[in-house]
Amino acid sequence: MDSILHYSIVDEGARLELRYENLSDRWVEQCAALELAAFPHADPEDLLSAEDLAAYARTFPQGFFVCHDGDRVVGQAGGIFVDFDFDHPQHTIAEITGEHQCGNHDPEGDWYYGTDIVVDTAYRRRGIGKRLYQLRKDLVKEWNRRGIIAGGYIPGFADHKHEMSAADYVKKVSAGELYDRTLSFQLENGFEARGVLANYIDSADIDGWAALIVWVNPDYS
Ligand SMILES: CC(C)(COP(=O)(O)OP(=O)(O)OC[C@H]1O[C@@H](n2cnc3c(N)ncnc32)[C@H](O)[C@@H]1OP(=O)(O)O)[C@@H](O)C(=O)NCCC(=O)NCCS
Repeated sequence: MDSILHYSIVDEGARLELRYENLSDRWVEQCAALELAAFPHADPEDLLSAEDLAAYARTFPQGFFVCHDGDRVVGQAGGIFVDFDFDHPQHTIAEITGEHQCGNHDPEGDWYYGTDIVVDTAYRRRGIGKRLYQLRKDLVKEWNRRGIIAGGYIPGFADHKHEMSAADYVKKVSAGELYDRTLSFQLENGFEARGVLANYIDSADIDGWAALIVWVNPDYS
């Protein structure tokens, strides 16, 4: 598969030409900065650093998509192939991804594990996140994998953690009774929440909880 995507869209309303391509060294510093800006409550050790991203670009660039507006990175979504045991689903981001958050990439792995997805705050709610998910889904279909798994960040839980458990919060968001700016968007993009992950990421706002989210490839054979 070609490691560089030649793909662009024009956002006519904002007169932007947004381009999407696979990760390369050109983007690693900006991707690391975007990651830090998006998760201000997380331990930077749990986030992708420039060094991690450089390793990612060597390990599996086809799995990592960068959206840029000229020279400015405005969105990114990465992932690696892994096997996953749904009978023992509990894991942390560090355990499942390995060194540099990509060391456990297994070219034969059944599932695409999403390690991160971020859109610059100034560029949100324009469909960039949806398009990044579409690129991931296209990759999964092209490589005939079972689907996408991720530990979904639940930022809205911070406002509810004193009145309900993370599991109840995820159930309420899934039922449409509460809105979460990340999980609701993921559900809207065809994911389902299959429970919660404890101590997934060192992030004080959500006490380390994440939703286990899954998208199943309907074309898998
Ligand atoms: C989650 C995230 C990646 C979404 O990115 P995004 O580019 O804003 O995503 P989209 O624009 O495709 O969709 C977001 C919402 O905007 C809406 N939207 C899309 N285009 C729109 C438009 N032109 N006008 C108005 N609304 C629009 C979508 O319907 C969606 O609404 P929903 O939340 O009710 O489903 C982004 O909010 C983010 O970076 N969050 C912080 C990091 C994070 O939590 N990452 C997830 C880790 S698991």
